[in-house]
Amino acid sequence: MKAGGSSQLSRKSETTFAVVIVTEPKSLDPPPTTVMVCVNRRFRVDEASCGVRGSEKLADALESGIQQRRINIKLERSICMGHCLTGPTIRLAPGGRFFHGPTSEEIAAILDELEEKCGTLDPADSDAPLFMPGS
Ligand code: FES
Repeated sequence: MKAGGSSQLSRKSETTFAVVIVTEPKSLDPPPTTVMVCVNRRFRVDEASCGVRGSEKLADALESGIQQRRINIKLERSICMGHCLTGPTIRLAPGGRFFHGPTSEEIAAILDELEEKCGTLDPADSDAPLFMPGS
């Protein structure tokens, strides 16, 4: 060892790097398999219903978008889901996420969410999205 601490001056500095990868936590919930659109219609003017508020057109727009984008989800037109005062009511199942009173302008955003959560079918896949009888 040399006098005066010169050995410390000639020592190469060492730097340690740590790589930290931060990812979004994945939801433990399974992706929805069905988007339910209430098309219930009441003919009494003093009782609210989704059908009277235009839910059939929303269902048609969703159905068309699902087919065009080949989103891996089925659409089901349903009876009353008990959210009549805030309808038209759309629900993802399983899971129960509700959309209350969406407008036709908001359908694209719903389709974006469905595509993100459910993915799309391979174009080579012969199984087209399944629509329930009567839908
Ligand atoms: S009529 Fe649609 S939720 Fe009741």
